[in-house]
Amino acid sequence: MKLIFRYMKPYLLIVLAVIALTFVQVQTELTLPDYMSGIVTNGIQYGGITESSPQALTKKDMDEVLNFVSAGDRQTILNMFELIPAGSSAKVDDQTVTFKEDVYVRVNDDEKADALMERPLVYAYMAKQQGIDISSADAENKISESLKGLEENYGSMARIYIRQLYEDVGLSAETIQNSYILTTGLKMLGIAAIGVFVQILGTYLATKTSSKIAATMRKDVFEKVESFSSSEFSKFSTSSLITRTGNDITKIQQLIQMMMRMMLMSPIMGITAVIKVMRYPNISWLLIVAIGVIVCAMIVLAVFAVPKFEVIQKLTDRLNSIMREFLDGMLVIRAFNSEKIEEEKFDDINSTFRKVDRFVSNIMNIMGPVMTFVMNALTVSITWFAAKQIDIDAMTIGEMMAFTQYAMHVVMSFMFVTVTFFMIPRSMVSVKRIEEVLNTVNTINDPKDPIALPEENGTLAFDHVTFRYPGAEESVLEDISFEAKPGETVAFIGSTGSGKSTIIKLIPRLFDVTEGKITYCGHDIRDVSQKQLHDKIGLATQKAILFTGDIRSNIEFGRDVSEEEMKEAIAISQSESIIKEKEEGLDAPITQGGTNVSGGQKQRLSIARALAKRRNIYIFDDSFSALDYATDKRLRAALNELIEKTKATVFIVAQRISTIKNADKIIVLNEGKIVGEGKHEDLLKNCEVYKQIAYSQLSKEELA
Ligand SMILES: Nc1ncnc2c1ncn2[C@@H]1O[C@H](COP(=O)(O)OP(=O)(O)OP(=O)(O)O)[C@@H](O)[C@H]1O
Ligand SMILES: [Mg+2]
Repeated sequence: MKLIFRYMKPYLLIVLAVIALTFVQVQTELTLPDYMSGIVTNGIQYGGITESSPQALTKKDMDEVLNFVSAGDRQTILNMFELIPAGSSAKVDDQTVTFKEDVYVRVNDDEKADALMERPLVYAYMAKQQGIDISSADAENKISESLKGLEENYGSMARIYIRQLYEDVGLSAETIQNSYILTTGLKMLGIAAIGVFVQILGTYLATKTSSKIAATMRKDVFEKVESFSSSEFSKFSTSSLITRTGNDITKIQQLIQMMMRMMLMSPIMGITAVIKVMRYPNISWLLIVAIGVIVCAMIVLAVFAVPKFEVIQKLTDRLNSIMREFLDGMLVIRAFNSEKIEEEKFDDINSTFRKVDRFVSNIMNIMGPVMTFVMNALTVSITWFAAKQIDIDAMTIGEMMAFTQYAMHVVMSFMFVTVTFFMIPRSMVSVKRIEEVLNTVNTINDPKDPIALPEENGTLAFDHVTFRYPGAEESVLEDISFEAKPGETVAFIGSTGSGKSTIIKLIPRLFDVTEGKITYCGHDIRDVSQKQLHDKIGLATQKAILFTGDIRSNIEFGRDVSEEEMKEAIAISQSESIIKEKEEGLDAPITQGGTNVSGGQKQRLSIARALAKRRNIYIFDDSFSALDYATDKRLRAALNELIEKTKATVFIVAQRISTIKNADKIIVLNEGKIVGEGKHEDLLKNCEVYKQIAYSQLSKEELA
């Protein structure tokens, strides 16, 4: 989690903006049910009348109402109205009416109006309904008798009466109703539009942020992997690193996206909805039951599914690794007819993967129906229990509808919260895997204060070097000491596995020595920055590697190579024929891994790459092995000319005596130890190992 927060830090402002947007979105979404409730209750049930005091009423009606007003309040009420004589017209509730009789029109909107007039209105209404003569002395008593227990309903009764009063005045009830529904509807539309806008903006920002974070993370992982030395690589398999940069980072991206949307939204939505639902305490207990059921279901599912997530990610690694090996070794597999074995290996993992994945999917799939059931059961229960509340007028139909919607929001929020809570562990597996890569401590590092090497060529010396591969038990090199002076060619020869390539790898610090030291110009190479060290070395590895691109890009290899240097490198490495043979010349495409050139061509191009820039040290690890004798000879002659000119040091590893015969110094290796050192002629005389190699390759005459 720390990792995610660290990456989210630069986007703090955006995150805050998304929080604000989410807040607004929740508010808009949760006010809509209130408006809907208003349309149903005020708009449809009460004909668009929202208050318990009228805006206008005929003098006749007013007199009836005033009958039930105490003497003290009478004047207060009359002060709120102005008497307009019959025949004149006035504007009431946006309608202009010409009055047929004297009409009282409201002139001030006193807050007390509703409280003062509600009861008198209801009494007047009842008197009319039941035909009670209001002038009789016991009229009020009779009415209050018949209204017993209906006090709760005064509001709605008053509004029904006001509708009649308006008709007496000459106002159109339909227009009042329509205008109420229309205004409320428009308000709802407006709010919904804001909601949509805010939601789109929020999602856009969240998506943008999460994809940016994923890109940064991918870059960081890539750069980290780039800094790995071979020993760090041996910790992670190639396919695992690929899964990590792809699949795992995508998972993290999804998590961030979800955090910024659902994980924010659900609690805000849930809490706000709960507050709204609390207004109806009589039926809100239903929600607690529903939430309880959901949480229980989720916990049960989570307990079974969560441990499987890590398993799935590991299996993905293995699937990828088998697939990769299969693709890399396709030709060999075909030639040896071992498709069946590979298939079985793949099937094995694939079916394990399928089983685990299906198990997790099944668990996830159960959730959908469970949720639908809970929701439907809740709706039915709300209708059932709310009906009773409506029956005793404690709730309106509109309120029931609003409550249902709030309840759904609460349940959904709870569901999302639980879903995210068990999505987190799944993503955490990926987070852990990325952290593993990023937190790997590199074994080969630059020194704090690197020493600057001189421009000129210097002596490279191995000083009692012993080397053991990381994790290996035995030393591959033991007590190796030799010197290579500027302008010298030093060759290594020895049986396979004797440690030749290993010595070579130590020079550019692909590995660090276990004991002893390697010096250049007298400085330990560990005290020099790797960049400077690498800039001194031109290396052609034993396995020639080309990259997707063209011949030119493979030789330049990101460096600034002039036309002249390019020509020279091509000439020395005997690559002209390769370029001539291609129609596009230097721009001939190279496919991934250099599969469209031959082994020998690959070697020559990688030699050209090593030579393209002037270097103090050139290293060729068995780079001439795939060349025919004639090419080998020409190449060495050209190389000698270059050394003559630049006084660079050259290291050549070879299996063929003829390749190294003329070297200034030949080092014979056997099982990681130097068993002979000197010129060809000397070694022939006094090195048994060298003699054997030589005799096995050359005739006595050639050797002479
Ligand atoms: N990455 C590695 N991890 C562990 N051991 C290794 C590694 N690379 C090589 N070895 C071991 O080190 C020894 C020397 O290997 P090296 O590649 O230096 O031999 P070589 O002389 O270059 O052989 P060849 O002529 O076949 O190229 C071998 O026994 C090999 O098994
Ligand atoms: Mg080798």
